[in-house]
Amino acid sequence: MGNQDEVRKNFGQRASEYRLSSTHGNRTDLKRMIGLINPFSDATALDVATGGGHTAIALAKHVKQVVTIDITPEMLAEAEKAASLEGIKNITFRAEDVHNLNIPDSQFDIVASRFAAHHFSDIKQALREMGRVLKPGGKLYILDCSVCDGEEPEREMNRIELLRDSSHRCSYSSRLWHQLLNELPLTVNHTSLLKERYELPQWFDRMGTNQNNREEIFRILNGLSQDSKILYPFGEDYITTYRFELLATKI
Ligand SMILES: C[S@@+](CC[C@H](N)C(=O)[O-])C[C@H]1O[C@@H](n2cnc3c(N)ncnc32)[C@H](O)[C@@H]1O
Repeated sequence: MGNQDEVRKNFGQRASEYRLSSTHGNRTDLKRMIGLINPFSDATALDVATGGGHTAIALAKHVKQVVTIDITPEMLAEAEKAASLEGIKNITFRAEDVHNLNIPDSQFDIVASRFAAHHFSDIKQALREMGRVLKPGGKLYILDCSVCDGEEPEREMNRIELLRDSSHRCSYSSRLWHQLLNELPLTVNHTSLLKERYELPQWFDRMGTNQNNREEIFRILNGLSQDSKILYPFGEDYITTYRFELLATKI
């Protein structure tokens, strides 16, 4: 079942926080993305689920034209504001759902999406759509929240994410990402699992997580097995998280 209304509600209320978020605007991450994609100046790029526009703006400085899509109008407005504040003029903004892009086949040299795949209600359909609009030889870049391989982290860390954000669907482990990628006409050039921390309470505040859910999240963390606790250290002011990063080329 779709979660699009939940996504629009949750992100619509907090759009400016995502534009201002230092996690999403992290320069090291954006620089690494540009280094991996290695865009050429005449390229056209699609930024899927642009949020506060960080990915689109980083790409726009290196390519001819960027199209951004997002289903939350307030987010598109924030992305537009962010681009205008930086004097960027080669981005267009469109309200669209990744599952059903109103874009012909084989249009883009680059399709990028950061911090969004865990919201998509049908990840296979979303990936098919992203692949469809890529030109053969075009590059797909994805960075998203992830979890360690294994039954407990895959289950419990997704419970935590859902308690924090009711529009969360699934943070895929590397194991699951590789299964998804195997079904697509792609050559995988690069994958990595990056260990990070989220500062608290900012991570909760950004999504307005209520007090009960914050406490339940700490109960889950305290109840993890020793093996998972080693993978997921936490304290009052931080929790550990993982990200999956991927670069692939369309065959
Ligand atoms: C955390 S934000 C993305 C951050 C952004 N990509 C960046 O680099 O900073 C997640 C975004 O995904 C969008 N989103 C979620 N589901 C979507 C869907 N089915 N189609 C398009 N956008 C979607 C939300 O509206 C939200 O703006």
